[in-house]
Amino acid sequence: MVERVVKPEILDNLDATNPAAIRSRKDLRLINWCMRGESWILSQLESFDNLTKVVEVGAGDAQLTNKIKLKFPHIQIIACDLIDRPKHLHKEICWLVGDILDSDCFDENTVVVANLFIHHLDDEALYRLSDKIRPCRALIMAEPHRYWFSKLLGYLTYPLVNNVTKHDMMVSIDAGFRFGELAGLIDLDWHWDERAALGGIRSIAKKNL
Ligand SMILES: C[S@@+](CC[C@H](N)C(=O)[O-])C[C@H]1O[C@@H](n2cnc3c(N)ncnc32)[C@H](O)[C@@H]1O
Repeated sequence: MVERVVKPEILDNLDATNPAAIRSRKDLRLINWCMRGESWILSQLESFDNLTKVVEVGAGDAQLTNKIKLKFPHIQIIACDLIDRPKHLHKEICWLVGDILDSDCFDENTVVVANLFIHHLDDEALYRLSDKIRPCRALIMAEPHRYWFSKLLGYLTYPLVNNVTKHDMMVSIDAGFRFGELAGLIDLDWHWDERAALGGIRSIAKKNL
């Protein structure tokens, strides 16, 4: 687990209506509950003065997106994923279907958030993402920590999750990040703050004003 390895995840290539994909997205809710990354992201959003716009990248079934809407009902929220708009998504949230690297939804008011998504991107894609989000205010990420202990925690969930989740969890950890690594891979000269917790790396990068 020394080098970062980005390999395809099964969920990204399954139709959203496939029962194994539906089950795996449910498993993700359990994993997210255990890792607490979503609640950490919500708490970080609270620290912004005059928060007016949030873009969530790789939003999946939009559990976090809806929580952002509940907590910040009056801001603009955009979420992007390869899958179609989830049925339960709040009607005022804009949903973009497609590759986030082709999107033009970022501007100087935007705080970008990502929960278990950034590790899908290889080094070149991370470089392209940096360019996209350069005008933004900040990037908040909760990602897998590439560390043996994360795998150990992952194995504990095996009795409760399906084969797609088991595969993707281990692939995600191998594609995850070591402490301090993201600041080198995302080409933005911003202020970084990072901590490891519960198998995850929690990073916040803010533009230097
Ligand atoms: C591990 S899931 C996490 C979903 C959600 N953030 C969560 O925590 O439940 C990663 C998501 O990234 C999406 N994804 C993968 N590559 C993407 C890309 N290039 N652009 C947008 N979404 C992408 C997948 O469809 C999937 O829903």
